[in-house]
Amino acid sequence: MKKVAVIGQGYVGLTISAFAGEFFEVIGFDNNSAIVAQLNSGISHIEGVDSAILRKWISFGSYKATNQASDIFAADVVVIAVPTPLTLDRKPDLTFIDSACRTIGENIKNPVLVINESTSFPGTLRNYIKPAIEKYSESEVEHLYAISPERVDPGRGDFNQKNTPRLYSGLTPVASRQTREFYAKFCDNLVEVSSPEVAEAAKLFENTFRQVNIALVNEFAQIAQSLGISVYETLDAANTKPYGFMKFTPSAGVGGHCIPVDPTYLAAVAEEHGAPATFIRRANDVNLEMSKYVVDRVEADNQGSLQGKSVLVIGVAYKPNVADVRETAAAPVIEHLRSRGALVSWHDDLVGEWRSETSAPLHGAEIAIVITLHDSIKHSSVMASAQYVFDTTGKIEGAVTL
Ligand SMILES: NC(=O)c1ccc[n+]([C@@H]2O[C@H](COP(=O)([O-])OP(=O)(O)OC[C@H]3O[C@@H](n4cnc5c(N)ncnc54)[C@H](O)[C@@H]3O)[C@@H](O)[C@H]2O)c1
Repeated sequence: MKKVAVIGQGYVGLTISAFAGEFFEVIGFDNNSAIVAQLNSGISHIEGVDSAILRKWISFGSYKATNQASDIFAADVVVIAVPTPLTLDRKPDLTFIDSACRTIGENIKNPVLVINESTSFPGTLRNYIKPAIEKYSESEVEHLYAISPERVDPGRGDFNQKNTPRLYSGLTPVASRQTREFYAKFCDNLVEVSSPEVAEAAKLFENTFRQVNIALVNEFAQIAQSLGISVYETLDAANTKPYGFMKFTPSAGVGGHCIPVDPTYLAAVAEEHGAPATFIRRANDVNLEMSKYVVDRVEADNQGSLQGKSVLVIGVAYKPNVADVRETAAAPVIEHLRSRGALVSWHDDLVGEWRSETSAPLHGAEIAIVITLHDSIKHSSVMASAQYVFDTTGKIEGAVTL
């Protein structure tokens, strides 16, 4: 059986480990020792990765988590699945990629196939990952390099590793062939593109497409409000057109590790090459400004002041049915509310604890603002939780909407 090391055991890395465990001996390397201990005790921390599957692979000897870098030595394939966030000044931050390259360069046997699944700008595999691994390797290495951007949508039931088409490309034909052989075990539809840069750019463009369309509908929600018409009814009307229209719905902003982040990677590389990214930058701004717009609307509906009023923010995860709070729109909404003197608590049983605060009961506030609506939340309970309910999801009958 081939050995596979997966660097990073988060949403992407653990998901791939769980699928690969059926065919390979997987070493899940993560530098967070608490996550490693939890995984080795057979408990998954990721929605969509069943603890029972994890326990099965552990008992078969085909999965082990570790924070010992030397444990990856014997791997034949290394998958990089570490975060690619933004710096504080919203620029691409490749420090996690760099430290993953160091782990690989210093510890892996030679040669292996290195596949990057982390999202980054075109040129990252060729100009950053390969040179970094070579820099950290003591002797000359002849690794093969490929990219296969991850498209997993955690918490989603209909599409997974098996039935989501997977893009890939190697730096060499041999790398491409070996990458195909690796993923073919657990992915039905593999799409080879002509260069790693095309695969990297396609991943960024997919999420930029979503960000721009979400920004457009968020702007349109404000236009519809100013015209005194329902944005939802208008969108449903437009959506009766059987071609040339795709429905996006307004929200308090975009969250998660992908949509608020990836377009900025594309804009950064575009600007570095002297190409315009004005549309992408503006879309990002429109989405970021939605939290203020929501609080402005709530304030206007409540005698123009939130001072001293109790406000319950419902759903602080960035999307329904997950506990992930990365880049959640709930954060700026709460900041705006508190800066205007509101007494803010939040309710989200899936998240439980966040920023040293715990989930509050779903009742007893003057104002409730729904940011994310998990399936487990009863609409009637939301309506009973406060005298005034503003629902940014547009799903709760009787609530004020965007
Ligand atoms: N979450 C998604 O839905 C999703 C979807 C597609 C692509 N991606 C991309 O996949 C990549 C990983 O995202 P994620 O959501 O899995 O992140 P995550 O934060 O859930 O997990 C990353 C894991 O990597 C570990 N880590 C960080 N640096 C490390 C290092 N040097 N060595 C070993 N472990 C390290 C962290 O402890 C963490 O457990 C990112 O580039 C992201 O943009 C994410």
